[in-house]
Amino acid sequence: MEQSNPSPGDLNEVLERHGRDPSRLLQVLREIQEIHGWIAPESIDRLADELNLPRARVEGVIGFYSFLHAEPVGQYRLLFSDNITDRMLGNQDLIEYLCNKLWLERGHVSEDGLVSVDTTSCTGLCDQGPAMLANGWAIPRLTRERLDAIVELVLQKLPVTLWPAELFMIEDNIRHSHILLANAMQPGDALRAAIAQVCVPGSAVEAAANERSWREGIPSVELCAPLATLEEIKRSNLRGRGGAGFTTGLKWEACRNAPGGEDNRTRYVVCNADEGEPGTFKDRVLLTTKADLLFEGMTLCAYAINAKQGFLYLRGEYRYLLEPLNAILQRRRAANLLGADILGQAGFDFDIEIHLGAGDYVCGEESALIESLEGKRGIPRNRPPYPVTHGYLQRPTTVNNVETFCAAALVGLHGGDWYRGIGTAKSAGTKILSVSGDCARPGIYEYPFGVSVRQVLEDCGAENTLAVQISGPSGVCIGADEFDRRIAFEDLATAGAFMVFDESRDMFEVAHNFAHFFAHESCGFCTPCRVGTAMLQATMDKIAAGHGTQYDLAEIDQLNRILLQSAHCGLGHTACNPTLDTLKRFRPTYERRLKSHDFEPAFDLDGALATARRMTGRDDAGAHLSTETES
Ligand SMILES: Cc1cc2nc3c(=O)[nH]c(=O)nc-3n(C[C@H](O)[C@H](O)[C@H](O)COP(=O)(O)O)c2cc1C
Ligand code: SF4
Repeated sequence: MEQSNPSPGDLNEVLERHGRDPSRLLQVLREIQEIHGWIAPESIDRLADELNLPRARVEGVIGFYSFLHAEPVGQYRLLFSDNITDRMLGNQDLIEYLCNKLWLERGHVSEDGLVSVDTTSCTGLCDQGPAMLANGWAIPRLTRERLDAIVELVLQKLPVTLWPAELFMIEDNIRHSHILLANAMQPGDALRAAIAQVCVPGSAVEAAANERSWREGIPSVELCAPLATLEEIKRSNLRGRGGAGFTTGLKWEACRNAPGGEDNRTRYVVCNADEGEPGTFKDRVLLTTKADLLFEGMTLCAYAINAKQGFLYLRGEYRYLLEPLNAILQRRRAANLLGADILGQAGFDFDIEIHLGAGDYVCGEESALIESLEGKRGIPRNRPPYPVTHGYLQRPTTVNNVETFCAAALVGLHGGDWYRGIGTAKSAGTKILSVSGDCARPGIYEYPFGVSVRQVLEDCGAENTLAVQISGPSGVCIGADEFDRRIAFEDLATAGAFMVFDESRDMFEVAHNFAHFFAHESCGFCTPCRVGTAMLQATMDKIAAGHGTQYDLAEIDQLNRILLQSAHCGLGHTACNPTLDTLKRFRPTYERRLKSHDFEPAFDLDGALATARRMTGRDDAGAHLSTETES
């Protein structure tokens, strides 16, 4: 990636590719940055002009996304993943080593404009960290030797796309599979099964009859098949795997029942592949190894809810998956599994497009994701209305996690009864866990719901385990006395992260890292979260520096109450979870850092004024203050 100024030709080509559509602004900006390394003021002017958008809107979008830059950030931008698991694997030493080798300071661009080194939130490679992104391309398993090789490549000014492929080799690490990871379904199997369904007595037939007015003349068996598919999804008791656990069949039904425009087909299917929760990487593996299953699930959803267009929202950190996934989509189009009249079913038209994110955790929240899909800043919307009625471009939209769509495809193939026979009474099917941290075999584990934490620890080779962080920073931290608890919606609900900490770890440090994560990722839209996450970070920094008091610990509780009551989205609601969980279970690790007396302000006013006092020759703090008072 050259740090260059835009040529009118480049910009024109990108704009043409996106039909000069303002809702493609994020994709256009990403592509321009991929060519030039940054987005120059002239590009911003031209984009605003050509897309008929206020300049401030274009600047606002660039400013929102951490992977977009309105200033040069170096020809090579090296971003270390800074999740707690990367830290446990020594990323801080490696950052220092690399900065020393390149003669630069962390967070700054080298004087010749060649390179910068900084950190980013979790890159989804916790099973093979420490990891980094080099101009957006993921590099796992960093060591000093691998960094030496990277320094050589940077100094030779070789484009990242020409660096040795071996550097970018990412493993799937599937350790334990069950129905989903083990399935041997051929592309199209689930769709054929869905299309072949015949009318069943009961609600599906009745519902189909009600639809007759808008599809007059089509035999009832065809009317019935999408509804029968919907019934199977409902019967399966499948619940969303992205965190909230909403019942998938009900979501699809609500979307299908919402008015879909003049043709009643203007609905959207959106796959949430943002996977930003630190410690979660199962969607990465599903996208790599089960993309056909995912696309099959999305197509099945389109069939059931009567939609024409789908989007896969792929997190920016998984940029390297874009071309392989597009190739699979292309293959599916050629096999008539996407496009017009899919598998010969008249009127069953559906296609999928991939949108790349640009590095913001909050964009995983479904309404923020939709904003981002529309080319805007990823700020969560007010809800209601919900995306099922007012989603992408204010049309009915079903948003589901990658794993949910994969599971839906299996339901389409084997039926709802089969699926709900797996797992527990309240949690049907299987759950894929992303296991990382202190264990011999980090990687991907799929179990029927109901598996105990102890079983997973045994399987992954964890020893002397002190704690497990379930479902990432926004989830729950449990200690050894709770290892018989079960992974299930009725006990430990999880989006998938399973981070293991052994007895050598200090759980304060874990919570400290997570407090920084939330403060960094708060989108800043609402004051309670913007200020609250910053205050939490400042309090944890203060405790880490040995200046904390019992008063500060009590304040965290108060902060949590405020965030729960007044934050706009789930990020703010969960920001205090790791601190409160570790405080409850591992309080001594906080207390041994505290000062004995009661209160010390987090902001040192006297210290902050010291420079001004020195500059004005008024060195004595007391004298200074009394002078101020007197005058
Ligand atoms: C801050 C935040 C981040 C989220 N990130 C993700 C994510 O990366 N992937 C995901 O599937 N869901 C994420 N969610 C949940 C989504 O809002 C939504 O519930 C989910 O995509 C619905 O899919 P499901 O029903 O299949 O679970 C996030 C929610 C919040 C509040
Ligand atoms: S709670 Fe935080 S992340 Fe969510 S909208 Fe408010 S500021 Fe943004």
